[in-house]
Amino acid sequence: MTTIFDLAQEMSQWIAQRWKSECYDQPAFSEIAVEAVETFDPTTSHSFEDIVGDVMQTTARPSQAHLDSGFGEPAITLFHHGSFYVDILFWNHVSTTLHQHGFNGAFQVLSGSSLEAEFTFARRTRLAGHFLLGELQFESMRRMEAGEIGRISAGPDSIHSVLHLARPTVSLVVRTARDMQQQPQYDYYRPHAAVDPLFIDPLLHCRLQLLDTLIQTEHKQLPKTVCDLVAQSDAYSTYCVLRACLQRLDPQCEMFIRLIEFARAVHGDVIDEFQAVFAEYERERRLLNHFEHSHSESTREILAAVYSAGDKASLAAFAEQRYGADGAISIVQGLRDAGPGCLEEAQQDPRTKDLLLHASPEPSAALV
Ligand SMILES: [Fe+2]
Repeated sequence: MTTIFDLAQEMSQWIAQRWKSECYDQPAFSEIAVEAVETFDPTTSHSFEDIVGDVMQTTARPSQAHLDSGFGEPAITLFHHGSFYVDILFWNHVSTTLHQHGFNGAFQVLSGSSLEAEFTFARRTRLAGHFLLGELQFESMRRMEAGEIGRISAGPDSIHSVLHLARPTVSLVVRTARDMQQQPQYDYYRPHAAVDPLFIDPLLHCRLQLLDTLIQTEHKQLPKTVCDLVAQSDAYSTYCVLRACLQRLDPQCEMFIRLIEFARAVHGDVIDEFQAVFAEYERERRLLNHFEHSHSESTREILAAVYSAGDKASLAAFAEQRYGADGAISIVQGLRDAGPGCLEEAQQDPRTKDLLLHASPEPSAALV
């Protein structure tokens, strides 16, 4: 029987011929990759069990593109052509941020399901090449089932998030190594920030590690140290310092409130934008914590929809499409099932408040 490695090799030879006729143009690769996945469609020949068996038993030893990348659980390169490769990715834990890609290609859900959301970013301020401020806008979301194929386009026109609903979910990715015209590959933080995750300032990196040690040991020098650091930092470093503090400190604690006031006195109104990002980050972190600990695919779908949706209209539209006219009640029920406090928080979020309070059979009780 043809293994998934054999199939990837056949597919790669087919792609290589087509791409050559396009002079190896990066944007042209996406359409070729979509066509290749449609043509070879691994879901018609390889079950989840087949794929696991092939990975465990194969004698093929393709060069691996993602060792030590922390990407996928695992990410396995089935065929490495040199300028493009075919990967298979297993997903168990939450591993996504809003992001764009610096490569082109296509993907297919082989097993399981995912919720993919798309966003746009209107850049307002380029503080540095590795740090932009602007407005992120939710555009759409859709559930993807096994067999469905999506296009991967490099650059900021394809900002998205993906939450995998079934555990594990498996996806095939056919992609170029890198589109040099579409770097850096920003991560995005609602509602305002874009950060190059590969940018590393070595000294700042060490300072943040030391800061974390001072926070964890509750060292008496912490307040002065962190204020001195903020006072002499640029905007990006200040963002990193404040965010590092929030990994350990309650945003409502006196020390953090004073630190924010100090940072605003030094750096001005940009701190308000940082605070909006931090507030959203906290909301997402709590939702994703519920998502991570939920074992029900339907509950995870509802959490993923609430996480992704930009406002009550987009959540209501998704709920109606998925669950019918009483879709909002299904959302409420799913948030109740997700764990203590999950529904109550969504009912107090201005973006979803009206929809969820209206849908709750016991709105006042839910808020107590
Ligand atoms: Fe992606």
